[in-house]
Amino acid sequence: MKKVLIAYGSRFGSTEEISEKISDLLKNENISSDLINLKEISSEQFPDLNNFDGVLIGSGIKIGAWTKEAKNYLKDNITKLKDKNLILGVFVSCGLASDSDKNEQAKNDYITKILNEMEIDADINDAFGALYDLSKKSKIGFVGKKIIQTMNKEDSRIKKGERNDLRDWNQIKDFTLKFADLINNK
Ligand SMILES: Cc1cc2nc3c(=O)[nH]c(=O)nc-3n(C[C@H](O)[C@H](O)[C@H](O)COP(=O)(O)O)c2cc1C
Repeated sequence: MKKVLIAYGSRFGSTEEISEKISDLLKNENISSDLINLKEISSEQFPDLNNFDGVLIGSGIKIGAWTKEAKNYLKDNITKLKDKNLILGVFVSCGLASDSDKNEQAKNDYITKILNEMEIDADINDAFGALYDLSKKSKIGFVGKKIIQTMNKEDSRIKKGERNDLRDWNQIKDFTLKFADLINNK
């Protein structure tokens, strides 16, 4: 069975949920995956990438930036990530990509730029929309909730006090199936 690593950084839980969904979908394609929340492990505990057919790296975006753990993961593994034998997929969850016509801009601003800076070539990448959890159980603090409401005043999809999921789960599934094809045809 082919095996991949899914390593993610998530501040409010969106990228974590996407990573878990991708891991589930990969099982149907006969690909097993190890999931790691980069905030919970130190660099000495990173699994050896030589043991995997591919790696998926995901991050949420806050004020234009990846989580520091996910960005550091790219930096710390730069040599291995440039290895053509390892299939590399990169994704983000961000407000910008919640509108499908802004998807290209989101990919450019939040993925292409950072990969170019590090001279890393991903085999596949995509930007997914946001989870704007404005409910009581949310991991987003008071100020964060205010920022979301102010910045998205015109967006009728976003309701105060609710868990607003603007991610396109079909887009996430398509991305996963393309990644699985790359792994299975390696
Ligand atoms: C304080 C704050 C700042 C944000 N800044 C941006 C931003 O600069 N660009 C963007 O596209 N989305 C932005 N977002 C939306 C997040 O990217 C979105 O909620 C995403 O789903 C978060 O992923 P995570 O929960 O995995 O961290 C912001 C959200 C919050 C709460």
